[in-house]
Amino acid sequence: MQIRTFGVIGAGQMGAGIAQTAAVSGLHVILQDISEDFVGRGAALIRKNLARNCEKGRLSHDDFVAAAARIITTTDISAMKDADFVVEAASEVEKIKYEIFSQLDKHCPAHTILASNTSSIPIGRIAANTRRPEKIIGMHFMNPVPVMKLVEVIRALPTSEETFRTTLELSRIMGKTPAEAHDYPGFIANRILLPMINEAVFCLYQGVGSRESIDTVMKLGMNHPMGPLALADLIGLDTCLAILNTLHQGLGDQKYRPCPLLRQYVESGWLGRKSGRGFYDYS
Ligand code: CAA
Repeated sequence: MQIRTFGVIGAGQMGAGIAQTAAVSGLHVILQDISEDFVGRGAALIRKNLARNCEKGRLSHDDFVAAAARIITTTDISAMKDADFVVEAASEVEKIKYEIFSQLDKHCPAHTILASNTSSIPIGRIAANTRRPEKIIGMHFMNPVPVMKLVEVIRALPTSEETFRTTLELSRIMGKTPAEAHDYPGFIANRILLPMINEAVFCLYQGVGSRESIDTVMKLGMNHPMGPLALADLIGLDTCLAILNTLHQGLGDQKYRPCPLLRQYVESGWLGRKSGRGFYDYS
């Protein structure tokens, strides 16, 4: 199945990154969010990143102009009627996701594949809320999307082989390497990453080390590009907490219980980079 027009729901950090990557790889992109303000901020972020790539010589001026011109923005979800493939990258709130998928199911033609970039919500549960469960799949990009090479592709029980193959092919067209995961809590990436981040927060909570020591140990001792606390700030502490709750509830193992300090930060509105304060101060 040929994908020409690619829809993205949500113009935040992840959605904007996905839209940018798709446009650079030659796809026509429809980027939707619920307000002009959100859409405008997403479009501005994409322009800034494309311009930087152009300055750095990674994108010619003509390709920059062409990629920017391939993206249209809207606040109207019914615009997805023209999309062959849609990725949803809205907030990690189940009710919101179900409402979006129900709208997409209504507006998109029968051939359209509907993917979720969810990091924690079961794909099978999303599929069960639509009339096209065989065309529902997880397409989980990593943050920052334009830089990270991986896409985790998650098949739910009803996902068809054609949907799966098309998603693998699309990932490659977008310059990413897909890795298949099955539909268990946290899939692969977050099942491994989040316990490490949570343990780093426990180290801070129990006074094992300062935030700087913890991050330095993992950066210089393990060659990680950034320390786990700085990474948690990049991902968003609310997202980290949501994923840990999913792992804890879904797998029933105490080892996934979120550190009380993480919960306290989230309850205080310290969500990481996006709120200006997390384990580090970004104001
Ligand atoms: N958007 C676009 N490009 C970005 C970017 C962003 N948000 N952040 C950094 N970049 C680009 C920059 O343009 C820069 O390129 P140039 O300087 O050549 O223009 C390049 O990435 C490197 O950036 P920096 O020099 O600022 O810093 P760095 O070398 O430390 O790299 C990093 C930054 C790529 C984020 C790197 O630290 C890294 O790989 N960190 C780990 C990221 C990671 O683990 N991501 C997965 C998170 S888990 C997830 O996403 C799944 C989930 O569900 C939670």
